[in-house]
Amino acid sequence: MAREILVLNGPNLNLLGTREPDVYGSDTLDDIVANLERLADERGYEVRAMQSNVEGELVDALHAAASAGLLGVVFNPGAYTHTSIALRDAITATGLPVVETHLSNVHAREEFRHTSMLSAVCLGVVLGFGPKSYQLALDALMTHLD
Ligand code: DQA
Repeated sequence: MAREILVLNGPNLNLLGTREPDVYGSDTLDDIVANLERLADERGYEVRAMQSNVEGELVDALHAAASAGLLGVVFNPGAYTHTSIALRDAITATGLPVVETHLSNVHAREEFRHTSMLSAVCLGVVLGFGPKSYQLALDALMTHLD
């Protein structure tokens, strides 16, 4: 059976490439995912990617990943990072190892971005390295799974 990892992205990340490029860079989400697919393949994993602007759909995606036997999640929850008890509960409920991932250094930004509802129930957190954050997160997750 394929060893699959979910790359899950939350609200507004579909706009990467044009959204505040000074903060988030110029890579599109498709660019980022294509790169992760390559990295995963080199290590014998497959990536399944999903993006939603809807909190409940992200909860459903975590449930579905666990039911389908996916092994872990690279998750950029976008602004829901700072607000969503539902996503925190979904991570705990599924027991999936999740790496919380952010392009920007949220701690160097507005105060409301300094709190994460999710970090405490994640395997780890990678932030501040632009698109490279996703690569570092995937690398760490695969090493954990190995
Ligand atoms: C983000 C940081 C969040 O605070 C913000 O709401 C996002 C993107 C990041 O990747 O840096 O949408 O998760």
